Amino acid sequence: MSAYTRQAMALLFDRTAKTYDALGVDFFGAFAKELLDRVGLVPGQRVLDVGCGRGAVLFPAAERVGSGGSVLGIDLSSAMVERTTKDIEDRRLANASVSLMDAQEPTLTDADFDVVLASFVVFFLPDPVAGLRSWHRLLKAGGRMGVTTFGGDDPRWAGVREVFKPFVSPELAWTLAVRAGLFATVEGFDQVVESAGFTGVTSVERVYPVKFADPSRWITWSWSHGQRMFWELVPEDRLDTVRRAVLAELEPLREPDGSVVLAQTVRYTIAHRG
Ligand SMILES: C[S@@+](CC[C@H](N)C(=O)[O-])C[C@H]1O[C@@H](n2cnc3c(N)ncnc32)[C@H](O)[C@@H]1O
Repeated sequence: MSAYTRQAMALLFDRTAKTYDALGVDFFGAFAKELLDRVGLVPGQRVLDVGCGRGAVLFPAAERVGSGGSVLGIDLSSAMVERTTKDIEDRRLANASVSLMDAQEPTLTDADFDVVLASFVVFFLPDPVAGLRSWHRLLKAGGRMGVTTFGGDDPRWAGVREVFKPFVSPELAWTLAVRAGLFATVEGFDQVVESAGFTGVTSVERVYPVKFADPSRWITWSWSHGQRMFWELVPEDRLDTVRRAVLAELEPLREPDGSVVLAQTVRYTIAHRG
């Protein structure tokens, strides 16, 4: 991924910020909670939340570390940073703050954090190993990192993914790589994390049912986060056709109450700085 696409990524997330994680679908928040449980956050810790977005991890982390601890969120999308900063101010939180900063090369003091968290971010980096190495450097000795990534796709939804494939040019093939390459298997990703200097790396995958009241709700939701990228690859004059093709793929998946359910696999990786 080039520097341009890193900037393009920030602009993509700028366009999602208004409705990101705000459409009543239980998604990022549920995974954030489990990440905090698994990393074992306790009061008094100093935490870095890499790619904090709209604060799915940052706000519950600030609550858990309490007034004796603190959470710094960093993100490359200025809209994410502005909106999350406003939420911190509205909630009068003294132990949380957000900065505009690249996750791959954060300009922060070494060995300053007890815990580094990165929920659904590492696969967006041009060089994920470089990012992991910097996060390792930012941890105090004995500190912990908790990362979430996506596991395998729901096979029942394969037809929906196929609808978008013709619009993904070879130069943009990396956009499909969040579940491939370095991230393809639990074992492979654990080795990648070890290669960045971490010890005691363990990953587990969990599958969650994510419910959408009807197929068109999924479409609206998919514009509100990283998946928006695929809609934006579709030329304007083909959008209606693609939308209809997605609805046709989802129609047979409807439950008796009209909803559609996505089986989302999430991988939690916990690692240590020795
Ligand atoms: C899928 S969202 C996850 C947000 C949040 N962690 C959550 O769980 O809801 C990915 C976030 O990473 C940010 N991001 C992507 N590339 C980045 C980079 N190079 N540096 C910092 N943030 C980045 C995006 O702007 C976006 O807010």
